Amino acid sequence: MCGIVGYIGMKEAAPVLLQGLEKLEYRGYDSAGIAVYQDDIFTIKTKGRLHDLKQKIEKMDTSIHGSVGIGHTRWATHGAPSDVNSHPHSSENGRISIVHNGIIENYMELKLFLQQEGRKFVSETDTEIVAQLFDYYYQGDLVDTMIKVIDKIRGAYALGVLCSEHPDEIVAVRKDSPLLVGIGQNENYIASDIPALLEYTRDYYLLEDNEIVLLKKDSIQLFDLNRNEIKKEIFHVTWDVSAAEKDGYDYFMMKEIMEQPEGLRKTILPRIKENEIQLDQIELTAEQVNNINRIHIVACGSAWHASIVGKYIIEKLSRIPVEVDLASEFRYRQPILQKNDLCIIVSQSGETADTLAALREAKKHGVRVLSIVNVVGSSIARESDDVIYTWAGPEIAVATTKGYSTQLSVMYLLALYFGKARKTITEQEMTDYIQKLKKVPDDVQKLLEFEDRIKVLAKQYAHSKDVFVIGRGIDYAAALEGSLKLKEISYIHSEAYAAGELKHGTISLIEYGTLVVAVATQQALFEKLISNIKEVKARGAKVVAIATEGSTSIEKVADEVFYIPKTSEMFTASATVVPMQLLSYYIAVERGCDVDKPRNLAKSVTVE
Ligand code: AGP
Repeated sequence: MCGIVGYIGMKEAAPVLLQGLEKLEYRGYDSAGIAVYQDDIFTIKTKGRLHDLKQKIEKMDTSIHGSVGIGHTRWATHGAPSDVNSHPHSSENGRISIVHNGIIENYMELKLFLQQEGRKFVSETDTEIVAQLFDYYYQGDLVDTMIKVIDKIRGAYALGVLCSEHPDEIVAVRKDSPLLVGIGQNENYIASDIPALLEYTRDYYLLEDNEIVLLKKDSIQLFDLNRNEIKKEIFHVTWDVSAAEKDGYDYFMMKEIMEQPEGLRKTILPRIKENEIQLDQIELTAEQVNNINRIHIVACGSAWHASIVGKYIIEKLSRIPVEVDLASEFRYRQPILQKNDLCIIVSQSGETADTLAALREAKKHGVRVLSIVNVVGSSIARESDDVIYTWAGPEIAVATTKGYSTQLSVMYLLALYFGKARKTITEQEMTDYIQKLKKVPDDVQKLLEFEDRIKVLAKQYAHSKDVFVIGRGIDYAAALEGSLKLKEISYIHSEAYAAGELKHGTISLIEYGTLVVAVATQQALFEKLISNIKEVKARGAKVVAIATEGSTSIEKVADEVFYIPKTSEMFTASATVVPMQLLSYYIAVERGCDVDKPRNLAKSVTVE
């Protein structure tokens, strides 16, 4: 997704903008640019990476001077990646410069209107229309102009605007796309996400939809759409800069894989008191839990995979019916939502557009929303009735690992919490589950020790054409996540299948040497999975199995076995996903892929 940075203060703006954009690279982009006010607005931008932009700047005859500017990394939506489509975009007369994250849905009608007013365009983007519209309405006051522009545009946007007639101001606004204000000493900032500014400040205003901010170096004014001034709490960030750095790892992804045990301990242990699950942060009472008619879990991508694990476990332990929906499908299928339903929204970033829209759909139907989110203060967190944070720490790699595994641990906590409230779990069972739940971080730690063995496997299978991941029950849900990891960072085609489905089509794709990863921890389904392994072996497949310690019979059929420590079958996904994360990582490295920033992908998909 696009990244925005803005600076106004006493320093040279260009280095601050470029450094901030570097910290937002993880969001995914295909072009970059900055605009700095120096006697007039100077813009330099390019297709490609930030180092291409820096090279272009270095080749300039003069250096860029100015202490107010905006910067942008673009993830193309309207118009292919190109220099001219890169941001910032200017009005025809150069008076206005804009950076934008989001999509303006009515950009064509606005473009036609402006063309009829004699305005000409140079790019294919929706953002250039906003720059021209801003200039069209400009009559001397940036906030008034912003209000007029907002009244005309529809869609999702975070906007940062420079005006050559106001060199000591930046005006900005957000709706559906994240934007925050960094509070400095005699300098202020805007950015899409905290890592961009963490080096400069720990204090922020987290903008809500339709909140306009007017920045000067020594003042910050916040307005609503009626130009009423708004007062906001300052959000103080406590995590340290190194949390957003690689700390010696080659890629953020490996650092974050290794951080999983710590993230799990921080997410699980504070919520276990004696033999109880204590979710102090939520107001959902035991009585309300008893009245829950149905649970709808809604998410995208890996968060959706964690939701499927959640379905299996919540239904088994609390006997509450659970439906799981892809957020991009949910609001378009006219879901049947009733008053006593509970909607659980799962999102690492808390900014995924489809998931945020699903949350709003549920609330429109009067359904209580509980969200599981990793980014504190994110849009989804702020709009939920209850939030259970995953304490994974900032996740920078596009491919989620600790975000996903800590989401799983919150599903375990919720399932036990619901089961206790509805008395579907005995005291003894609760004691046993809690004892095993406390051990999940150590179980994951043990799986990380397979790293060297997996490096060897990665070399062997790095050039596979297809990789299939199979499992049954919770193992199938884990297989979905393992398959996505491989796809998104190594670009190898992979599919996850409920093992029982193989004979309904997929098995025709198995050829000699095809890699099949078989996840086999559910004892009641173990023998059936052994049969599925035999079926694919008979067609020439190579099988890497992930099973529970003691299930040694699997060695008779699989070519390689990774054992996870004995635990409750409810909790095995936390451990089984680790070998698949590591295998995906090392295959991607072997294939020379950009592991942290896979092609075409973004860390937080803030557009539909
Ligand atoms: C997972 O590795 C991907 N980055 C992607 O599927 C991600 O899980 C999805 O976009 C949802 O993101 P969210 O959890 O931030 O809402």
